[in-house]
Order: sequence, then C-alpha cells, then structure tokens
Amino acid sequence: MKAALYTSTGPARQVLRVDEVDRPLPGPGEVLVRVHASGVNPTDWKARSGAFPRPVDGFQIPHHDGAGVIEAVGEGVDRARIGQRVWVWLAAHGTRWGTAAEWTVVPARQAMPLPDGVSFELGAMLGVPAMTAHRCLFADGPVTGKAVLVAGGAGAVGHFAIELAKWRGARVVSTVSTPEKAELARKAGADLVVNYRAADAADQVRGFAPVADRVVEVALGANLALDLAVSGPPTVIVTYAADGPDPVLPVRSCMSVNVTLRFVLLYGVPAEALDAAAADVTAALSAGRLTELPVHRFPLADIATAHEAAERGVTGKVIVIPG
Ligand SMILES: NC(=O)c1ccc[n+]([C@@H]2O[C@H](COP(=O)([O-])OP(=O)(O)OC[C@H]3O[C@@H](n4cnc5c(N)ncnc54)[C@H](OP(=O)(O)O)[C@@H]3O)[C@@H](O)[C@H]2O)c1
Repeated sequence: MKAALYTSTGPARQVLRVDEVDRPLPGPGEVLVRVHASGVNPTDWKARSGAFPRPVDGFQIPHHDGAGVIEAVGEGVDRARIGQRVWVWLAAHGTRWGTAAEWTVVPARQAMPLPDGVSFELGAMLGVPAMTAHRCLFADGPVTGKAVLVAGGAGAVGHFAIELAKWRGARVVSTVSTPEKAELARKAGADLVVNYRAADAADQVRGFAPVADRVVEVALGANLALDLAVSGPPTVIVTYAADGPDPVLPVRSCMSVNVTLRFVLLYGVPAEALDAAAADVTAALSAGRLTELPVHRFPLADIATAHEAAERGVTGKVIVIPG
C-alpha cells in the first residue's frame, strides 16, 4: 500500500516521504480500515519533529485520527463489522500504523461507527480533539446547566469542547483572537464570544458567568489571571496544552477562590474514560451536534506541505486524503 512515513525524526520536508509498504493484517481483536481521510493534529507533527524523544520502530506512519471503512477483521471481532464506516482514534499510539496511508489497523474499540451522512472528513477530525475536549469537560462530572469557559474556541479541541458542552446543556462562553475565529466559535454554539486581547475580556466573561464551573484551557500561562477572575469553589480549570510559557502559580489567588486545577494528557487517560468519550462523541455525532471546522485538504503526495500547514497553525483542520 501507499503510505506516508518517516524513519527518523526532523523537519517535515527532510524526513517525510511516500513509499510502498506491506499492507498490515488485522491481528486478534483488530480491524483493517481503508482510510478515506486522515486528520493531522499537533501531537502528530510534534512526534515527527522529534519534540518527544521516542524511538522509531523501523518506520512510522503518522496520524492518530482518520475515517474510512472496515475491510477485514481479526480473530474475535464480529464479521458483521466488515463494510462499516468508522472513525478511528489514537491509531498510531504505540504502533507504526498511523492513518496517513491507504489502510490502517487498530484495535476494534478504536474504530467507532461513523453515522450515515457524516463525512469522512468530520470523522477524521474527531479522535484527538473531541476525545480531549470530552475528558476536559466531563472528568469532574456532568456540565448540564453549568457555565463553561472554553479558551481558544476556534481551535480543534476548543471547537469540540463548545459543541459537546452545548450538547450536554451547558452555557458556554469562549475566547478567541480574531473576528474570523469569533464566527467559528459562534457557529459551534458559544453563547458569548470574547476577544481575549480586549482590555475588558475578564469583565465580559464575568458578566456572562461570575463563576465558571469549568474552564477548558489551551494556554494556562497566558490566561490564568482571566481564569481566576471567574473562579470560585466549583471551578475546575482543565489544562490540556503546554505550548506557551508556564505560569508562575499565584498560590494565594488560587487558594482564595478555592479553585481546582486539573491537567489532561490523552495518552494517559484511563481506558474506561476513553471508551466513554468515544461512545459519547459517536452519540453526539448521531444527534447531529458535531460539525466540521474549515478543511485544508492535501493529497498523500503532499504530506510534507500538509504538516507544514498544521505547524503554521492554519485556522481549521488539515486533512490528508490517502487514496
Ligand atoms: N493534552 C492532550 O492530550 C492534548 C490533546 C489535543 C491537543 N493538545 C495540545 O493542545 C494544543 C491545541 O491543539 P488543537 O489541536 O486544538 O490546536 P489548534 O486547532 O491549532 O488550536 C489552537 C487554538 O489555541 C488558541 N490559542 C492560543 N493561545 C491562546 C490564548 N492565549 N488564549 C486563547 N486561545 C489561544 C488559538 O487561537 P488564536 O490563534 O486565536 O490564539 C487556536 O485557535 C496543542 O498544543 C496540542 O498539542 C493536547
């Protein structure tokens, strides 16, 4: 099969190439998926860049997320799943079989049914972002009737955090940096969108929610003061990214409002919580409550350009089409 792969880590253009490799066979408990769309996440290009010191096992096909059709199943998997449209999560976690290829193999539980009418491209946007958003929102219980602040609501995780929170009946305020991103956050369902660069951003958020129950935070270092301005005893600030400078923790301010800080890294989330997230994301999809971000589409041959676009932080999702 044709696959994008790397054998050592480094800059996209230096290490990524498209090559022929043997199509994988589904082992016991696994399914073979014909990939129709492969989603690029920051973790994919960070791993390829060598940002995390992980050895490459011969070669690595990148990308955790994808969507396609089950073509074969391994021992112990219901044969009725052959032909099922699916969305795939964490495909490349601990294996070389990412989704940037014509086929991938994953454990059956990591190939979730893609409801009729849902595009493969939306299916390929879900794994890392929607599952992370789910964990951030629900690790501390339901959000029905609660106030949720989503920082960076036009980002992939932010987008699905808004949609999942609204689906579950929360009131949502989101921050963004531009009018284009404000429009995306509004379309996702945010009740109020605030430019986080405005001098009165904290006042605007406080006007909507004097005390937020959850803060889904992409930039704790930049936003801790704003987050604390809307924090109280019920608030859990959940951080899932570590891009900017780390905050200096203002202990007294945190203590004064009795806030809880939580950190989420998808790779370490307990299996039961991952399965619950995958089931809920599928239910939200079936209910028509999850939507696409703007798509930046690249053929497999342009894998390096696709990674460069994702690294530049284009607004929307970078999707690679393998076939
Ligand atoms: N822990 C995990 O398991 C996990 C899972 C998924 C993603 N991540 C990490 O989370 C980060 C985001 O991932 P993504 O896929 O959502 O990326 P993305 O689609 O590129 O979105 C990032 C968003 O963050 C916003 N942002 C940056 N600084 C901000 C600030 N100070 N306040 C508010 N918003 C801000 C950006 O908006 P502006 O440009 O307008 O600022 C952008 O919309 C990456 O570092 C990724 O590696 C971690």
